[in-house]
Amino acid sequence: MRFFGTMKDEQGVLSIGGVKVTELAQKYGTPLYIMDQELIESNMRKYKENFKSDKFQTQIVYASKAFLAKAMCQLVEKYDMDIDAVSGGELYTIKVSGLDMKRVHMHGNNKTLEELEMCVDYGIGSIIIDNETEIENLSYVCAQKNKKIKAMLRINIGIDAHTHEYIKTSKHSSKFGESIFDEKLVGIVEKIVKDKNIEFLGFHCHIGSQIFDTKAFHEGIETMVVETKKIADTLGIKIPEINLGGGFGVYYTENDVEVDIEKFMRSMIEHIEKSLDEHKLEIEKVSIEPGRSIVGNAGSTLYTVGGIKQTYGGVKYMFIDGGMTDNIRPALYQAEYEAVIANRLDEKEREVVTVAGKCCESGDLIIKGKSLPKGEKGDLLLVSTTGAYGYSMSSNYNKLARPAVVFVKNGKASLAIRRESFEDLIRNDLAIEL
Ligand code: LLP
Repeated sequence: MRFFGTMKDEQGVLSIGGVKVTELAQKYGTPLYIMDQELIESNMRKYKENFKSDKFQTQIVYASKAFLAKAMCQLVEKYDMDIDAVSGGELYTIKVSGLDMKRVHMHGNNKTLEELEMCVDYGIGSIIIDNETEIENLSYVCAQKNKKIKAMLRINIGIDAHTHEYIKTSKHSSKFGESIFDEKLVGIVEKIVKDKNIEFLGFHCHIGSQIFDTKAFHEGIETMVVETKKIADTLGIKIPEINLGGGFGVYYTENDVEVDIEKFMRSMIEHIEKSLDEHKLEIEKVSIEPGRSIVGNAGSTLYTVGGIKQTYGGVKYMFIDGGMTDNIRPALYQAEYEAVIANRLDEKEREVVTVAGKCCESGDLIIKGKSLPKGEKGDLLLVSTTGAYGYSMSSNYNKLARPAVVFVKNGKASLAIRRESFEDLIRNDLAIEL
C-alpha cells in the first residue's frame, strides 16, 4: 500500500499524524475513519498557492459532498476557501458550523422551494442554477422575501471525460445543466439577466469526477471561455465569473496516475490567462471546486479482522467489522483499494484474499481477490484513500451504526464525528396504531 501524508511505519505499527493506529483503535473502536489533517491542510495550501493569477481573482470552492463535517468547515475557513452544497442538509451542516454563509455556493438539479428559501434566508454567496424551471422558482422565492441573490448558470459543455459511467456529468444526455449545443441556451441566460431578483454572475461547468486526463480539463477551459465570450457578445452584457468545477483524479491503486495539484493548477492558470487574451474576454473571477483531491488520500478506514474463511469454491475471505455501509464505492463503481495489516507492517507473507464486510449482501466487498499481507483474527486492516465519498455515502444497511471520524495531527487525535449509537439508529422510529 502506498503511504500518504504523515503515514509512518513505527516499529511495525502504522502511525498517522503521529498517532499509532493501534492506539486509535483502542480509544475509538473500529471501524474508524482516520483523517490526516496535515495532508488535508497541505492539499488546501497547494490549491490556494497555485491557482492564483495577476489577471483575475481566483477562489477554491471545496466540494462538500466528498466529506462534510464541522471540522471541514473549520479548515475551509482557515484556508480562506469557499464551500459548495447540494442539499438542505449540507446547507444546514455548514450553517451550524458557524462558517460565513457568503462562502457557500448551492448546487443541485432539483432544488426544492424549501432549499431555495434556505439559500435566500441564509444569505449564501451564490446559487448555481441548473435549469429553466429553477429560474422561475428562485425568482419567486426572492420576490416573496424581497431579496436579491447572485447566481451562476450550470452549462453542459459536452466533454466526454474518461471516467466511470456513473460519475460522468457532461455527456449530452446528462441530467446536469443546460447544454451549450441547445439553441435555447441564449434565451435562458437572457431570462436570468432580465430577472430583477437575480444577479447573473456567469457560467459553471463540471465535467465529471476522478478524471486523470488533464486534456479534458484544458478542453473545458477553452470551451468555457469561447462560450462565455459568445453569449456575452450576443446579449451585449459583461459576464464577470466562471467556475470550472472539480474532478481532479487521485491515486487509489497502481492503475491510477493522479493529477499533480501544484503543477496542474499552474498550467490551468496559464491556459486560462492565454485563452482570455486570445478571445479578448475579460473575467473578474475564476473558481474551481475540488472535493476528492483535497480529502481522498487523507482518509483511511481502520477495521478489525474478524477471521479468515477459506471457501470450498476456492475464494479466501478476510472478514472485517465494516463493509459496504462505510464504503459503497467498490459495489457501486467497482472501485479498487489498497490495504495493509496496520498493526504488523513487517508481515512478509502475502496471500490472495477478498476483503468482505459484514452485511447480508454478497456484493459487500471492499477488495476483491488481491494479494495482501497475511492477516488473522484480531489484526487491524487499514484501507487507504477512503477520505472522499466514504463517510458521505455511508448507510445504515442492516442497522450498522456509522463509524466515528477522527482527525489526527502532530501526535494528537480529535474526534470530529462520534460513532453512531444504537439509540441513534432508532431515534426516528415510532410505534404505530394497530
Ligand atoms: N463540483 C460539482 C458540481 C460536482 O458535481 C462534483 C462532484 C464536484 C465539484 C467535486 O468533484 P471531485 O473533485 O470530488 O471529483 N460519489 C462519486 C463521486 C461523485 C462526484 C459528484 N460530483 C465517487 O464516489 O466516486
